[in-house]
Formats: sequence, C-alpha cells, structure tokens
Amino acid sequence: MSKKVSIVFHSVCGNNYLIAKEFYNEFKKHKVEVQLLRVNDPNLEELAKQFTIAAQHKNEILKIEEAKVEKLYDSDLIIFGSPTYFGNVSGAMKAFMDEFSPHWPEGKFWGKKMFSFTTCANGQGGGDLCLNAMTIFGQHMGMITIPVPGDLLAGESFPAYGLVHYVGDYSNLRPSGKTILAIKAMTKRLMKI
Ligand SMILES: Cc1cc2nc3c(=O)[nH]c(=O)nc-3n(C[C@H](O)[C@H](O)[C@H](O)COP(=O)(O)O)c2cc1C
Repeated sequence: MSKKVSIVFHSVCGNNYLIAKEFYNEFKKHKVEVQLLRVNDPNLEELAKQFTIAAQHKNEILKIEEAKVEKLYDSDLIIFGSPTYFGNVSGAMKAFMDEFSPHWPEGKFWGKKMFSFTTCANGQGGGDLCLNAMTIFGQHMGMITIPVPGDLLAGESFPAYGLVHYVGDYSNLRPSGKTILAIKAMTKRLMKI
C-alpha cells in the first residue's frame, strides 16, 4: 500500500487545480502522507491578465508549493494532472517531465506507481491523447501506470488511461458530480494497491 502520495498538476484556468485539490483532500481522509505540488508556469501572470478565469485562480494556485523532481524521490504513488493542449500535455507539464531526464538512466523512478488526469474542452478534444502522453512518459521512467478499473468505466465516457474532466460542465465538479464521484472512487482504489 502507498505510504506517500504526490499530486503534481499544471493549471491556468483552475480546472486541474480543483481536481488536484480534490484528490489531495480525498487522500487526506485516508490518513496517508500526501503532498500537492504545482508545476511552474512562467506565463501564468501574463495569462491571468488575458483571461478572467485564470485571474480568479492565480493567487490560490501560486500559494501551492512548486513541483521539483527531487520532491518526488520518496513517493510511492505520483499523480500527474495536465490540461489537454492540442491533444497533448501542456508545454509547462512537458518541460517538467523533461526535467526527469537525469534520472532515466539510473532508474530512479522505476517501480513507483503513477496515475494521470486531465481536463479538456470536450469528448472529442483529445483528452485521451494527453493521458496517453503522460502514460508513455511514466513507462519511460519505469513507473507502473495505473488504469481506471473497468467497473468504474462502465457506462461512463472515461478513457482507461486515466481520469478526464470535460470543462464547461461545472455540475461535474459539484459534490455529487460525475468527476468528483470518480475522484473519490479512484482514490479508494489507489489506496488498495
Ligand atoms: C493552448 C491551448 C490548447 C488547447 N487544446 C485543447 C485540445 O486540444 N483539446 C481540448 O479539448 N481542449 C483544449 N484546450 C482547452 C483546455 O484543455 C482546457 O481549457 C483545460 O483543460 C483547462 O485546464 P486548466 O483550467 O487547469 O488550465 C486548449 C487550451 C489551450 C489554452
């Protein structure tokens, strides 16, 4: 069973931040050691000037501790959350992933468990491709990527590679919303392995 969990997210408009925070609060209930880390986005201040929604979340996001690869050394389970940008991870998340390169030859992250989530505009937006990009990264690092179990997928439009939240349907972020219920169910499963 995982003793230490790290949740690493990138977010500009708040969706991935809210999901990361929900995972953090769920893991806290299970009395496991958990840390929430934000991927640095050098453009966040500028984007907050352009987008009202980014300005709304900016200060809260910046209060979260910045992610550094070395802060993940002692994690048993790492959860990555990235916005889907053009059917891939965001540039900031990719830059963070590339910082793992010194650890690839030494297998520093080999055998750790990993789970992914993303948010994207809609079901045709390539959220599954973004999850796939994170999964492939994890496999390069030798991590064991955890899929969404089939029984949680039944009747839902989630890809197996991880959790997707479709932006715009805010009801899914309410306490009984589909995304929130999926986070709760997935946290319980992740606690078992
Ligand atoms: C540069 C850029 C590229 C995007 N590309 C896609 C895309 O390919 N598919 C999609 O469904 N949404 C796309 N979106 C919408 C984002 O995925 C969505 O707004 C994001 O999940 C918000 O995450 P955040 O609120 O955590 O920043 C894009 C947004 C931006 C700014």
